[in-house]
Amino acid sequence: MQHAPTRSGPVDSDGGIRQTGTDRPFLHVLADTSDKLSGICSILNEKFTIAGERLDADSRLSQTPAAIVIRAELRDVDNIAAIKKRASKLAKARKRIFLLDHASHVCISQAYALGATLVLSGTVTRTRLLAALADPAGGVSASSGDTSQPDNAVETAATAIASMFTAMTLGQPLDVEGTKEAGRQIADRITQHGLTEWLMTVRRHHEGTYQHCLLVTGVAIDFGLSLGVGRTDLERLYSAAMFHDIGKAQIPLAILDKPGRLDAAERALIETHPAAGYEFLKGHDGISPEILDAVRHHHEYLDGSGYPDTLCAESIGDIVRILTIADIFAALIEHRHYKPTMPRAEAYDILCGMNGKLEKALVRSFKQVALTR
Ligand SMILES: [Fe+2]
Ligand SMILES: [Fe+2]
Repeated sequence: MQHAPTRSGPVDSDGGIRQTGTDRPFLHVLADTSDKLSGICSILNEKFTIAGERLDADSRLSQTPAAIVIRAELRDVDNIAAIKKRASKLAKARKRIFLLDHASHVCISQAYALGATLVLSGTVTRTRLLAALADPAGGVSASSGDTSQPDNAVETAATAIASMFTAMTLGQPLDVEGTKEAGRQIADRITQHGLTEWLMTVRRHHEGTYQHCLLVTGVAIDFGLSLGVGRTDLERLYSAAMFHDIGKAQIPLAILDKPGRLDAAERALIETHPAAGYEFLKGHDGISPEILDAVRHHHEYLDGSGYPDTLCAESIGDIVRILTIADIFAALIEHRHYKPTMPRAEAYDILCGMNGKLEKALVRSFKQVALTR
């Protein structure tokens, strides 16, 4: 069944929608049912000029939108095929927000594999959707329509993380080289543009576990660069960082994304992720013992209070110590829709207050990474 685009602005000569004023950005909305389509359009109508289209219709819109919002059931192969068919058009929009009714690791991974720059799952309220579109760091403005290019290092890395989580969830083999290559691209990007630019880019593109992995990898790379580690260690570091939380593919999203405090049972479940990641990765070629060690032990502390093996200082290697600091710092500064982003200086103060758990000299060296780089 074909459906004509739903339009809320005047049609231009080539069938696209032109903006009605300079202050109304143009958005493209795609959905797999008419109900979903009209639901989203009614939320966005007041602030944006919208062209909406059902996924099963022939794509007729030619104007490049400032953002694309897609709401579809990604367990349905026809929807996936319809989105893939529009891939080149999607790639032109700087922001591609996927709204998922069914939140699972596989659906979220699928959305990123299809080019999402942000995935919102669960109940997507009007406030949350407008906030995602208005986010000042990467918000949609009237002029952002056709000038911005997709961000390659971020997209490559997010896709690599998506396929990594899918592989673990489905028990399929992992693309080890592809994941390492994504880490290498992040290292190049940070060497060229610095850490601050990376943190800003990642925070405006991604949420949740993916954002966390991208932030940890960036922070670990920059920490490694600032310490002057050699090429081999830098490779170990970014690979370990990319893989470090892969075990979270086995933890329900309701727990991973829970805004409030976790209860004891939830905490116990979360604490299984380093060993689960290690078990999955150790069956793969191309993952060195140092990387496996870092994945398994990134939650260990020098005073023996960490998990899963309650290691003490002498058993915790350098790569692990660096990764642990990068991991904690990244977790503190990450952007979640339910909490404000912690300033970098405040996050560094928390690291400094973790007496006995982290190597003091390393935390001191981390200061310039945390505050100035
Ligand atoms: Fe972790
Ligand atoms: Fe982590």
